[in-house]
Amino acid sequence: MVNVLFVCLGNICRSPMAEAVLRHKVAQQQLSGQITVDSAGTGDWHIGKLPHEGTRRILDLHGISYLDMMARLVSGDDFDKFQYIVCMDQSNGVNVRKLPGGDKRELMYFMDLLPEEELREVPDPYFTGNFEQVYDLINAGCDVLLDRIRSEKLQQA
Ligand code: 4NP
Repeated sequence: MVNVLFVCLGNICRSPMAEAVLRHKVAQQQLSGQITVDSAGTGDWHIGKLPHEGTRRILDLHGISYLDMMARLVSGDDFDKFQYIVCMDQSNGVNVRKLPGGDKRELMYFMDLLPEEELREVPDPYFTGNFEQVYDLINAGCDVLLDRIRSEKLQQA
């Protein structure tokens, strides 16, 4: 099993959007038995909450489910379970590194999946209000990530 964790600050806008989008693509490619997708936040303000209304609205627009998704905090235990830990911005990465065991873990940054984009962090729509822009980036980046997982991990599985 290949396990993917997206990390952002509040776990209500960007990382749950990425979780829902990647899980949808995984299901479309009949890979649900081989790849799991989760998300978590570095801040604890929204633990237990549904994704933000803006994230829910754009997922609804694209027919993507967010059923049973609830905000949670990232923890050092996540390092044992997830092979791919993908941070939405640099400060998320800095905070993940501070967790027990985090100094040894290889982290990915979402925008490294899209090197042609000028933006180097996924903008936070909690502050910008621009959920469409984030959806477009996440949709494109998840295609790249899924191709990468297929070539790096599933061949050997
Ligand atoms: P996210 O956005 O990290 O993409 O979930 C945020 C959500 C909430 C807050 C900040 C960012 N907040 O400060 O409550």
